[in-house]
Amino acid sequence: MAKRPRIAVVGSANVDLTTFSDQFPKPGETIFGQKFDLGFGGKGANQAVAARLCGADVFMVARVGDDLFGPSTIKNFEKLGIDATHVRQVSGVSSGVAPIFVDPSGQNRIIVVKGANDTLKPADVDAAADTLKSADCIVLQFEIPLETVYYTIKFARQNGIRCILNPAPAQPIDIKAIADLDYFVPNESEAEAISGMPVRNLDDAKRCAGKLLASGIRRVIITLGANGSLLAGSEGMEHVPAFNVKSVDSTGAGDAFIGSFATFLGEGLPEQEAVKRANLYAGLSTTGVGTQKSFYDRARFDAEWSKRGKA
Ligand code: RIB
Repeated sequence: MAKRPRIAVVGSANVDLTTFSDQFPKPGETIFGQKFDLGFGGKGANQAVAARLCGADVFMVARVGDDLFGPSTIKNFEKLGIDATHVRQVSGVSSGVAPIFVDPSGQNRIIVVKGANDTLKPADVDAAADTLKSADCIVLQFEIPLETVYYTIKFARQNGIRCILNPAPAQPIDIKAIADLDYFVPNESEAEAISGMPVRNLDDAKRCAGKLLASGIRRVIITLGANGSLLAGSEGMEHVPAFNVKSVDSTGAGDAFIGSFATFLGEGLPEQEAVKRANLYAGLSTTGVGTQKSFYDRARFDAEWSKRGKA
């Protein structure tokens, strides 16, 4: 039986307000959309939920706001069996929210209002230190203050804990402050924004990964949507193809990739195999509407993997 990984996510929790529409309004215009979905989201929370549904023990370190969404977000973690001891409500601040717009092809546009996520500080990481030290992997994203991300990377290195960073949403960073990472996992647009190099195809992605490795980052995985992923390290680069799926909403697919990859790797699978499985897990998440609610549990995933994983 596979080892049960212990994964800590230091990151964001949002509520997603998703509108499905075949057109978008011009300034001053009001139009009708086709469908609406309200659900729990936030890149950190989504990654925690994906890891939990894949079978990991998961610990969340986050901040929620002083509104209706705060307590219900904490309850959602608890309902899913995620340890929310270090998810606290902050008074006088809203919860993180994300109005999301999905077009008929399943492509999304997202505006994140960080709210309470912006109050998660290095002192909160210290307050959760005992929990974090018990984890075998810490997962981070960019919807919390960068100083907290940098601090947590240092904390992970000092304590010999594997650390995975998903630099989403992209923003200018201090590459030296993230050099201690084990895995840097951007999508194409994040890789492009951070490296300053265009990423329009696999060859571009390879050049970009080469630049990121040369800047001191140990291992890079660039997720390429329907093109799968590029895994890159000092020994070389490997393209891991995606699986064919009928996509209706790609929101949260990157988060599904990260949470499942952390779990598969923590179970002791070889890296390339963990990426291949995470490609399928992320692809399957795009076949349903919403973020967390579109993620497969382990039994459903394993059933798909046994049909399609050998290909
Ligand atoms: O990656 C998808 C997530 O981005 C959404 O859940 C939204 O909350 C934003 O954080």
